[in-house]
Amino acid sequence: MKATINGVTIAYDDQGSGLPLVFLHAFPLNRRMWRDQAEALSSTFRIVTIDLRGHGESDAPLWRYTLDQAAEDIRALLDHLSIRGAVFVGLSMGGYICFAFHRRYADRMKGLILADTKAQADTPEGRDSRFQMAQVAYRKGTGAIADMMIPRLLAPATVQQRPELVRAVRAMIEGNEVSGIAGDLMAMAERADSTPLLGGIRCPTQIIVGELDQPTPLADAQLMVDQIPGASLAVIPEAAHLSNLEQPDEFTQIVERFASQLA
Ligand code: MLT
Repeated sequence: MKATINGVTIAYDDQGSGLPLVFLHAFPLNRRMWRDQAEALSSTFRIVTIDLRGHGESDAPLWRYTLDQAAEDIRALLDHLSIRGAVFVGLSMGGYICFAFHRRYADRMKGLILADTKAQADTPEGRDSRFQMAQVAYRKGTGAIADMMIPRLLAPATVQQRPELVRAVRAMIEGNEVSGIAGDLMAMAERADSTPLLGGIRCPTQIIVGELDQPTPLADAQLMVDQIPGASLAVIPEAAHLSNLEQPDEFTQIVERFASQLA
C-alpha cells in the first residue's frame, strides 16, 4: 500500500486487527525485514510496517533527511490510518527514530521495543565514517554499501552458512536509492543524544539485543535498561545486529509476550 505523506510517497503494509504494532526498520534496509514477524503476529495484532522515506518502495527525494522528519512521516501515516496509540518496535536506526518520535509524541506510545539500538549520539569518528560511507554510496553505488554493511549486520556464522538470508539482506540494501542512503547517513550523524530522555520514558519498554551485536552491543542495551524505568532486557543467542532476521522465532516470541500484556 502507498500513501502521500508530507509530500512524498510512503509504502507500508497494514495487516490484521487489534492492538497496533508499528515496526521501524534498520539502515539501510526496508519493511521486508519484518516479514516473519508480520506473518506470525498479524493473527493477533494490527501490524504496520513502513518503508521509511529514502527506502524500499517509498520515495527517496534528494534533500536533507532528519530523524525528526522520519518521526513526522510516521505520525502523519498513523493519522492517515486513524491509529492514535501504538506499540513501537524499532531496530537500530528504527530505534533512533523511536526516540525522535517519543520527543514529540510520547502520548501516542503505548509500549516501546528497542532492538539492537542505542541512545547515545555518534562520536566524532562515527560521524566521519558516515561521511565516508556516503561518498562510497555516491561513487560506487549500493552494491558497495552492501559489501560494507553485511559483515557488520550479520554474525560470521550467518554470513558463511545462510546464503539465502545474506542474499535477502543484500537485495534490500541494493534496492535503495543512493539519495536515501546518503540522506539516512546525514540524519544519523546529526541525531541528538537520547540518553537524557531515557529516565522520562513512562511506557512499558522491552530492550532486545543479539548477543553478537557489534554496532550496538550488550553494553548499549544495558545502559538503556538501567535508565528506562521498569525496562526489561532480552538477549538473543546466536544473533548479531539484525537479530529479528537471524533468530526470527525468538524475536517474534519476545514481541508477542510483551505486546500481549498491553493488549
Ligand atoms: C542500523 O542498523 O540501522 C545501523 O547500523 C545504525 C547505525 O549505523 O548507527
